[in-house]
Order: sequence, then C-alpha cells, then structure tokens
Amino acid sequence: MRRAMGAATRCALLLALVLVAAAPRMAVGDGDGGGGGEAREEQVLSLWSSSSARDGEAEDEGRFLKSEWEDDEDDDDEEDRVMAVQGKGACRNVVNVDSFGAAGDGDGDDTQAFASAWKTACSLDNAVFLVPAGRRYKVGAIQFVGPCKDNRMIIQIQGTIVAPEEPSEWDPRSPRLWLLFSGLAGARIQGGGVIDGSGSKWWANSCKINKSNPCRGAPTAVTIDSCRGVRVRGLRVQNAQQIHVTVSRSRGVRVGGLRIEAPEDSPNTDGIHVAESTAVTIQRCRIGTGDDCISIVNGSFGVKMRDIDCGPGHGISIGSLGKGGAFAAVADVALDSARISRSQNGVRIKTWQGGAGYVRGVRFANVAVDGVDHPIIIDQFYCDAATRPCANQTSAVAVSDVSYRNISGTSRLAEAIRFACSDAVPCTGIVLSDINLRRADDDGEVQTVCNCAVGFDYGRVQPAADCLRSSTCGGAPDKHHPDDHDEEQGKDEAVVLHAEL
Ligand SMILES: *[C@@H]1O[C@H](CO)[C@@H](O)[C@H](O)[C@H]1NC(C)=O
Ligand SMILES: *[C@@H]1O[C@H](CO)[C@@H](O)[C@H](O)[C@H]1NC(C)=O
Ligand SMILES: *[C@@H]1O[C@H](CO)[C@@H](O)[C@H](O)[C@H]1NC(C)=O
Ligand SMILES: *[C@@H]1O[C@H](CO)[C@@H](O)[C@H](O)[C@H]1NC(C)=O
Repeated sequence: MRRAMGAATRCALLLALVLVAAAPRMAVGDGDGGGGGEAREEQVLSLWSSSSARDGEAEDEGRFLKSEWEDDEDDDDEEDRVMAVQGKGACRNVVNVDSFGAAGDGDGDDTQAFASAWKTACSLDNAVFLVPAGRRYKVGAIQFVGPCKDNRMIIQIQGTIVAPEEPSEWDPRSPRLWLLFSGLAGARIQGGGVIDGSGSKWWANSCKINKSNPCRGAPTAVTIDSCRGVRVRGLRVQNAQQIHVTVSRSRGVRVGGLRIEAPEDSPNTDGIHVAESTAVTIQRCRIGTGDDCISIVNGSFGVKMRDIDCGPGHGISIGSLGKGGAFAAVADVALDSARISRSQNGVRIKTWQGGAGYVRGVRFANVAVDGVDHPIIIDQFYCDAATRPCANQTSAVAVSDVSYRNISGTSRLAEAIRFACSDAVPCTGIVLSDINLRRADDDGEVQTVCNCAVGFDYGRVQPAADCLRSSTCGGAPDKHHPDDHDEEQGKDEAVVLHAEL
C-alpha cells in the first residue's frame, strides 16, 4: 500500500481548495425553506426556552440548542468559510482513498483501501478523508472510529460508495452496520456524493416481503454513534439495506441537506433514525422511503427538525416506544415546516401497551400534508403484525404536552386526526390550533377520533376536535389498525449497537 501523503504534514492547500470548491451543493430544499421568517424562528426558539424551564439541566440544553439553531442559519456559507480559513494559510492534509489502492470501479472490493486511508487520515492534523468524484467504490462493513488526532476532520464524499449486494456474503461480524462513524467529535461528513446500500436482496429476504423467512435485522447504511458535534450534510443516501441514517448515543449532531431515497415498498428503510441522542437537528432533508421518514426513539432529548420534505413512507414518527414493558423517554421535539405527501401518517406518536416512561414537550408546526392516510395521530395501542394481538395493559408510556399548529392539506382516510390514548394513562395537554384538513379528492368527510385524550383547540380547527374536551375513555378507536403493515423487526438500533461494538 502506497502512502499518499508522503509528507503527511505538507500542505495540500491548493488541492484542498479545488476539492472543496468542486463539491457540488445539494440544493435540496434550498430556497423554499431557510428564510422561513422571523416569526417562525421566534416560535421555535421560545419553544426551547419555555420547555427548558423544567430543571437546570434542561435549561442548559435549551441555551445550547438556541445557539446551535442560530448557527444553522449560516449553513450555506460553511464551505466558503472553510475556504476562507484555508486561504489564510491553514493547510489540509488530503488523504485520497485512491492512493491506498482503491479500485473505484464499482467492482473490486475497496474496503481495505478505505480502512487504511482512514487510519492515516485519523492520525493527521487538518485531515480530509477524500472519496473522489466520478468514481464508484464498493465497500463492505467498515468502521470509521475516533477519536482522531484532529477533531475537525472532514470526510469528503464526492463519488459513490456502494455496498456489496449479496446478503450471504456480508461480514457476519457486522450484521447491523454498514458504514459506522463512531467516537468522533466535530467531524464533518459532506461532499455531495452518493451512499448506496444496494438493498434489494436484503429487502427480498425480509420477513415482511417473504413470509417464509425469519425476521432478522439488516445493516443500517450510515450510523453516527457515540459522536459529538458531528455534521452530516449534502449527501445522497439511497437503497439502504434497512435504516438509511441512524444517530445514536450522540450529542449535538446536525444533519442537513440530505436526499434519502428508497422504494416505497422497501421494508424498514427509515430515513433518519434518532436514538439515545441529545440536541440533534435535522434540516432541509428530502426523504422518501418504505418506512418512517424520521423516527425518534428512546433516550432522545432536544430534537429539532426543520424544512423536511417527506414521502412516500410512513411519516414523521416518535416511537415506537415501550415495547415489552420497556421504559422509554423522549422530550423536547420540534418539527417546523414540513411537506408530507403520499404517506401513511403525517406526524405520529406511537407507543406500546405495557410500557413505562414518557413522551413530552412535542411541537409540530407548519406542516402541509397531501394525500396522507392519517395526518395527525397518537397511537398508544401500537402493535405490529408480528406481535398481534396485543392485550390492553395497566401501564403505558405517558404522552403529554403535544401541540399541533398550522397543519393543513388532505387526508386520504376519514380519520384525519386520531388520538388513541390508553385508558390507564390518558394523553394530556394535547393542543390543536389552525388545523385545516379535508378529504383528498373531496371524497367525503374527515373527523377527529379521541380516546382518553385531554386538551383543547383554538383558532380554526377542521375537523372539529371537541372530543379533546370531553376526554371520553373506553371508546372504540382501535377498530382498525393503521399499522398493519408496519412491522418493526430489528429497529431497536441502539440496543443492537451496544451488543455489537
Ligand atoms: C422465500 O424464502 C425462501 C427461504 O429462504 C426461499 O426458498 C424462496 O425462494 C423465497 N421466495 C421468494 C418468492 O423469493
Ligand atoms: C431507554 O433509555 C434509557 C436511558 O435514557 C435506558 O436506561 C433504557 O434502558 C432504554 N430502554 C431501552 C428499551 O432501550
Ligand atoms: C403554515 O404552514 C404552511 C406549510 O408549511 C406554510 O406555508 C405557511 O406559511 C404557514 N403559515 C403560517 C402563518 O405560518
Ligand atoms: C383496549 O382499549 C381500547 C380503549 O379503551 C378499547 O377500544 C379496545 O377495545 C381495547 N382492546 C382490547 C383488546 O381489549
């Protein structure tokens, strides 16, 4: 293996400049979001200050988030700033995978070349781990593990990284991970390139597609685990074996300008999955897959989503939580400005019967839905087809302080708003304002259905949600099962990671 950077410390200034300049911008969502107006910004910020009043820890979080959010306004200038810094004389050590023997022809196995290049890049100051444009690298399960010498390492993916297609040849030591970024602080993963999981054979093997197969998890394409302050931006992630991007056990991760795409019928291919992480922002992403566009599960606090284009898929979800009697906690989640189309759900909270813990402090605002089965849904009777029937139990994950503001568009089914909360632990503090939902194709009425949901509505709310004020329990909201085809085998990602690392 040749060493690319003969003099590892030598400046590669010019090269770096060219590379950074050449990185195509992912213009996803640009222009129609971002400048969403001062008022909206105010609201989001006030959310964090108001919901952070609970205790000291939360207050710190609120302040942290506020500054993070403001920083994000400058996202588009980021690359220019990188260049400006370099212009002032800082140097970048570019570590090109090609120099470590990568074939880049989409055929030869480049896993070892990537591993060697990473080892070098991670040992250098001012490193740029470069996957050059115009080439296609076949890479198997691999771990990009820190800490590295320089926290501000740049992982510049300009070309295409593609996974081997054949599940039977997958590295058995990494059944749930393809590209793992772990233990990094302040790294940036960017470059406008493509990450392609070649998932079709994994999907065909899924028990959801071929009922004679056992239910087993498949690799997540990109996993950001145990990281701090990492930014992922301007990449296309497609055809993941299962989940596309997971952020787990991390803090201050920012994801922006991702285009995530897989077929509508690909099983469990969530777009972005957040678990056991704090202060995560996801913005300007366009996601269309066979499962949730974004799913937020246990141990996640302070997750902000903005300018999300979602569909097809299962919507933007918190949960599922509390499976098998588990304790689960999610708090301070905000979605501001989203377009959700042709998906099973709009904004959803789903919990299992028998769990414990809470979901609280959730704000969904400024969402346009188009032909969505259930635009607004809380389902405390979540039960996937594999475990059905699920008996009602005397405990549940408590859902409180959830608001929905300015949500409009079309519902494909009559139950546009469904609050199916458990008799044992009713949902409280459910607030609806400025809701305007109508039936897609003017195909009949829409309605709000409640069980044990307590709250109020103000402003225009259509369909009317009087049932929030009467808070009747023992109703019949589970006559149908919105999640019939929404099995979740192997999505308890954080748990899997613990076992695997
Ligand atoms: C389903 O899986 C079984 C067992 O793995 C296999 O023999 C069969 O060919 C598969 N069916 C289809 C339609 O792929
Ligand atoms: C949920 O997260 C908490 C920490 O926030 C942890 O103690 C608990 O074990 C997690 N539950 C599951 C089911 O992973
Ligand atoms: C309501 O939400 C829609 C869709 O995101 C947005 O276009 C509109 O500007 C919002 N209205 C207000 C008053 O914020
Ligand atoms: C569970 O409780 C809900 C709400 O009270 C009720 O509609 C449903 O029939 C119950 N399901 C079972 C299986 O008892």
